[in-house]
Amino acid sequence: MKAAAKRTKKKTETKLKKSVFCGTSLDGFLARPDDTFDFLTAGEGVPHGFVEFLASVDVIVLGRRTFDVVMKLGHLGLYGKKRIVVLSRRPLDFPDVKGATLEQMAGTPQEIVAQLEATGAKHAYVDGGITIQDFLRAGEIDRIIVTRVPVLIGTGIPLFGEVPHDLHLRHIATRSFPSGLVQSEYAIGGAEEKKGRTRRPVNRRKKKKNS
Ligand SMILES: NC(=O)c1ccc[n+]([C@@H]2O[C@H](COP(=O)([O-])OP(=O)(O)OC[C@H]3O[C@@H](n4cnc5c(N)ncnc54)[C@H](OP(=O)(O)O)[C@@H]3O)[C@@H](O)[C@H]2O)c1
Repeated sequence: MKAAAKRTKKKTETKLKKSVFCGTSLDGFLARPDDTFDFLTAGEGVPHGFVEFLASVDVIVLGRRTFDVVMKLGHLGLYGKKRIVVLSRRPLDFPDVKGATLEQMAGTPQEIVAQLEATGAKHAYVDGGITIQDFLRAGEIDRIIVTRVPVLIGTGIPLFGEVPHDLHLRHIATRSFPSGLVQSEYAIGGAEEKKGRTRRPVNRRKKKKNS
């Protein structure tokens, strides 16, 4: 009986695609330390594919800090009526936002993906610096679309962080805009990834410093 239930469950669940769509400074920051992102305004008003991307996802997974910024700016409406999952390890009190479907999840990226798959989600838009980094480390990101703005801000909230081993990406496409924005799309898992993981010489620099 249990095995039959398991088989049925497997049949109804589909593998979730997890994508990142974000903008950064050329030196890789999503926002300034105070959560502002005035430096991302270059090329504003020109379509950069966000509308099409958003139309392709059925769930938006936001780190709590990104959610806070979205709420503060009153930008929740940008997501239309899409299902929004906010990740947080603390109790969240969602305001009653008309038309929005908000829910909270917590756990490892694998657990979150499993929960989303179990509820029928097919394509997730994963957003937030820590969130993206955790999902990447867990092997739970399939695609990254990053639009780089030609500005160096020196400090801020980074898109990428430490990884346990080299993560190889496959370049899909790059396009540039008259404003100087450069948008690149990558699939995670390039040819090198398939050959085998490249071990990272962890903290080699730190060791030298300390010795
Ligand atoms: N330029 C862009 O395109 C772009 C895109 C996204 C975000 N941003 C900016 O980036 C900044 C936020 O990035 P961030 O790196 O600070 O944080 P974040 O990823 O938005 O939020 C981090 C928080 O999310 C929660 N969280 C993450 N993974 C979780 C998990 N597996 N289970 C439970 N909770 C989890 C935790 O919340 P708790 O502490 O509540 O437990 C954690 O502290 C904001 O300024 C935002 O506006 C910019």
